[in-house]
Amino acid sequence: MLGRREGPGVQRVALTEARSGVGELLRLADSLNSELESRRGRTERSGRGQFATPSQAAQTMASLVEPAGGVLSVVDPGAGAGALMLALVAAAVDRGRLERLSVVLVETDTQALELLDAACRAALLVADAHGLRLETRVVASDFCDVSGWADGRSFDAVILNPPYMKLGASDPCRLMVGRRHGVDCPNLYAAFLAVAVELLRDGGQLVAITPRSFANGLYFTNFRRHLTDRASFRHVILFDRRDRVFRSSSVLQETVIFSMRKSASGPGDLVRVETRPDHISGPQEVHDVPHHNIVLPHDPGRFINLPGSPDVMCVAERVAALPADLRSLGLSVSTGPVVDFRCREHLTAARVEGSVPLIYPVNLRDARVEWPLEARKPQGFTVAPQTRRWLFPNGIYVLVKRFTAKEERRRVVACVYDPVDGYGHVAFENHVNVIHRDHGPLRRPEAESLVNFLNSDLVDTYFRMFSGSTQVNATDLRRLRLPELCESHRSTFFDAENSCLPDHGIGNCEPLS
Ligand SMILES: C[S@@+](CC[C@H](N)C(=O)[O-])C[C@H]1O[C@@H](n2cnc3c(N)ncnc32)[C@H](O)[C@@H]1O
Repeated sequence: MLGRREGPGVQRVALTEARSGVGELLRLADSLNSELESRRGRTERSGRGQFATPSQAAQTMASLVEPAGGVLSVVDPGAGAGALMLALVAAAVDRGRLERLSVVLVETDTQALELLDAACRAALLVADAHGLRLETRVVASDFCDVSGWADGRSFDAVILNPPYMKLGASDPCRLMVGRRHGVDCPNLYAAFLAVAVELLRDGGQLVAITPRSFANGLYFTNFRRHLTDRASFRHVILFDRRDRVFRSSSVLQETVIFSMRKSASGPGDLVRVETRPDHISGPQEVHDVPHHNIVLPHDPGRFINLPGSPDVMCVAERVAALPADLRSLGLSVSTGPVVDFRCREHLTAARVEGSVPLIYPVNLRDARVEWPLEARKPQGFTVAPQTRRWLFPNGIYVLVKRFTAKEERRRVVACVYDPVDGYGHVAFENHVNVIHRDHGPLRRPEAESLVNFLNSDLVDTYFRMFSGSTQVNATDLRRLRLPELCESHRSTFFDAENSCLPDHGIGNCEPLS
């Protein structure tokens, strides 16, 4: 018997589908996901970070859970309508190797809790019919507050699609997880992962589907340390399309499925990296990557490099071997200091008296900056005592767009800014990164060399390997290895058409003095 609280429609679907067999559990997962979507509007779902896992993705995740023996204890945090539990039971019954499976499903949404009851009853029917001892426990609780539900237990596996929600610095959940687990999580999905890894027994397994945004960037550094100090990657699945996996929720995020073990990585450990067009298609590229190439052992930022193919690995090794970086070249990178909505009174049209050029990303075109433009964005910025600290002396700079999407031809878009005659200063808006020397201009050859290099296939391929978001941060640019800037060999070193640098050139010339 299903619970009395579910509508008759849900009960009928659940019973009929579950009785008719294992494969039907996956169809049931999709039915219950749709039911939850219809009960909660889009705005409400996104306010809860509720993006249900389609059954095909849930099935892929369940296939990554590898029980060590005949008994498996699992937590499903933020269980939604139960898609992951249903896929897990379907996989267990299908493989036929487990004797006992216990799943704790933790959820806060009352509507989801109702559907979870239905999902559990259906799963129990199928498990029973196949001789699998299944125990499910649905807990109405905040997953991150483990003191409320975990009873100090540890588990063999955690399988999760955690809620996505930015957490402000004073968010109670962020503070609680920080206090109890010593990790700072700027997003609820990271908090779920951080707590999940703590709940695992040694050698236990974490299988997750999450945004890829934690893979790089400053905000997630502390979280990446927490995760990679405790667990090592085993299997990673990348998707070409950003718009497919959570299409029903209109999510446009790079998504990744990964499996980790709670244990340190050994010297010979390999991580299987797969690339798939979307969550429905099979892999189009599969290769094994040494763990130390995914998380470089001496990288304080613990970036998570995910090379989708052996060619990308080759590029990564070449870039890592380059001899310079911005700092060693005497250069710095800053985010454009003009935040336009905070200083509207200083924004003007181009060439208004007392103003200087204001450069937005829209001004960056074909490796050059075009100014002024007939654009919606104001093209001038007033020079006043209170705005002087946001201005740069007029001169040559390298500008790099701060936001580009995976679908664009280039993730790193760099341009030379040529000084406009008649101005003492220039202003750069917050959506561009500015490469400068001590807050002053660069020399033309080095600026052009740098732009050629940054716009190369090599950098594009390398950048895509570690970047999981639409941002191109100043931190990413600071970390990037560069060739020495050598004027005489410029065309050899920075040929934008070449995807790999000629070995003989590297280190073969002196930096510009
Ligand atoms: C991204 S959805 C995933 C749902 C389901 N696991 C799936 O894969 O389809 C995340 C779920 O976490 C729930 N949730 C949000 N905050 C939570 C919290 N603090 N504790 C437990 N569940 C939470 C949401 O209600 C939502 O159902």
